[in-house]
Amino acid sequence: MALIELRRIFKSYFLHGKRIDVLRDVSLDIEKGELVSLIGPSGAGKSTFLHVLGTLDAPAAGTMTFDGRSVFTMNDAELAELRNRSIGFVFQSHFLLPEFTAVENVAMPALLRRLDRKQALHDARELLERMGLLARAEHRPGELSGGESQRVALARALVLKPTLLLADEPTGNLDPATGESIHNLLREVNRELGVTAVVVTHNEELARSMPRQLRMATGSILPVVPEGGEGEDAPLSPAVPTPPTPAAATPEATPGFPEEGGE
Ligand SMILES: Nc1ncnc2c1ncn2[C@@H]1O[C@H](COP(=O)(O)OP(=O)(O)OP(=O)(O)O)[C@@H](O)[C@H]1O
Ligand SMILES: [Mg+2]
Repeated sequence: MALIELRRIFKSYFLHGKRIDVLRDVSLDIEKGELVSLIGPSGAGKSTFLHVLGTLDAPAAGTMTFDGRSVFTMNDAELAELRNRSIGFVFQSHFLLPEFTAVENVAMPALLRRLDRKQALHDARELLERMGLLARAEHRPGELSGGESQRVALARALVLKPTLLLADEPTGNLDPATGESIHNLLREVNRELGVTAVVVTHNEELARSMPRQLRMATGSILPVVPEGGEGEDAPLSPAVPTPPTPAAATPEATPGFPEEGGE
């Protein structure tokens, strides 16, 4: 059984009477311990896909299991518990809390769970050390560079030892060397902490350095065929010319999620 099994996921946005089909019949397995890169042009739906994977957003149709548990039938409390316990998120913008220091930001998920404060700060410090940021532990986000902030956000996503790490362009707006060091950190975290990770990136070279590479385009997610042609070439999500009508997005399909705007 794969850690994540997504089946027939559809998702559209409705804005000003227009429908944008972002995910069109996406089916995908992610095995425990995999390190996966996801590339694709701006607007292809990478963030949308990551939000669905992270249970932050509901699809219109489709199913997903996380460690064998059906996700889209969970209620809000169960979903929140799953997210807190098992999923770490590095967002496209890092969203550090400006009034707290780096080490407090990293410890925040543990502090919010009312775990032991001393232990939480100790774990946070250890992660910052791994990120090469121990010397910045007492800095506030306004006193950190962009790359340092991203590394703090990565440490924060890891402090509760998630099963799954979802990183949305953690190297966006960074110089190539800092970007590469963050990708190295992700590989290290994957290898040494056993964290399954899906990383969205615009950097093709860094994407290629990940053991499994996916590309997103026109609503589908396809494996990247490496040069030399050893990869799979069958689409993981067959192109489906007729996405479901809004009426197909029954509330029964996604109980536990708030209604989406515009539907
Ligand atoms: N809340 C929303 N309402 C309407 N349309 C949206 C909404 N969020 C995203 N979209 C549209 O859905 C599409 C996919 O957006 P998404 O953010 O997933 O793309 P992306 O691949 O992450 O792009 P980027 O590389 O620029 O971050 C885009 O065309 C976007 O304009
Ligand atoms: Mg995005």
